Amino acid sequence: MDLKNKITTIMPRVHDLRWQIHRYPELSLKEEQTAALVERELIEIGLVPQLVTNTGVTALLEGGRPGKTIALRADMDALPLPEETGCLHSSKVAGVMHACGHDVHTAVLLGVARLLASFRERISGNVKFIFQPAEENNPTGGAKPMIEAGVLNDPKVDLILALHVWPELPVGSIGVRDGAMMAASDRVFVKVLGKSSHGSAPHQGIDAIAVSAQVISALQTVVSRNVSPLEAAVLTFGTVRGGHRYNIIANQVELEGTCRTLNPAVRRLVETRIDQVASQVAVGLGAESEVRYVHGYPALINSAEGFTVLKQAGEETLGKDGVVIPQYPAMGAEDFAFFVEKVPGALFWLGCTKLNAPMVPLHSPEFLPAEECLAVGVEVLSRAVFNYLT
Ligand code: NI
Repeated sequence: MDLKNKITTIMPRVHDLRWQIHRYPELSLKEEQTAALVERELIEIGLVPQLVTNTGVTALLEGGRPGKTIALRADMDALPLPEETGCLHSSKVAGVMHACGHDVHTAVLLGVARLLASFRERISGNVKFIFQPAEENNPTGGAKPMIEAGVLNDPKVDLILALHVWPELPVGSIGVRDGAMMAASDRVFVKVLGKSSHGSAPHQGIDAIAVSAQVISALQTVVSRNVSPLEAAVLTFGTVRGGHRYNIIANQVELEGTCRTLNPAVRRLVETRIDQVASQVAVGLGAESEVRYVHGYPALINSAEGFTVLKQAGEETLGKDGVVIPQYPAMGAEDFAFFVEKVPGALFWLGCTKLNAPMVPLHSPEFLPAEECLAVGVEVLSRAVFNYLT
């Protein structure tokens, strides 16, 4: 079968879908027009879409012969920032843009659905398409509610695959690792409670600002002194809020941060130590503290089988040089991690920066994946399905 030719014929439609989604980006849990577009396209392809949760869509493609079930997942939501790409198809929604490439993910998966539907008779088994809302909605996310609604059952999914556009890789390449691919992302809230007094009489109060400065310093030792130097962990406090006036001792300071880890044991260690260090330092200085550690997305761990399937499909599409095995995972997070906690699977990075073009990071108002990456995404996922189900 001449897959590349067939893909060439469907790509105009895939690009058109991508720009339609790009022009009308929707925030997490508000992907109503996008979900409607996905449903229309799936019906047009000859599939029967089903709504799962409010804006999630799924459809099952049954092959010509019985066999295993592979699931493919794309996320659909956009981000609250104004687009500055200067693109002809820029967002028509003020303050909202597809700055994480989920427009590409959704359009690619619709292309894969169209392609595989036309080769239905050659497939032994089932392909489940999962269009997921609210990936950007950490800690809740859209993956978990879909899993709880049973999207991985009936028929039971044996393997699940996904992609994410990746500006650090050139278009015409993909990246995939065996094992950790992306990090767990948790939120940390620390409240330091002191007592106000006149700024000229600190001894009559408990200075929450002075205490929180010590708490922040001491918490730096969690990563540097408690976590093994051979493990990865990041603890970043992005906000500090407190105080009333220049001459009043602050009675309360609130810190908010993010904690990223790759290994569940390190995640537990860091959570425990943050609580111990913050409370003991605060108590030592006469104050009190409250720590709230909110679990977000877990680490995304690619299964060996998922990795092998993607690597092979990538090499068939792009040649051996087109498949990069990154030395390190990324410390960003992806709620696809919830799916691969339940069933084996893997996510790959889809190179999307044009040769000699500057690298524009994800979540930048100037982020715009190169068009050429869409055909690569369609081919890699389609080949992965063919290889797995024949
Ligand atoms: Ni994303």
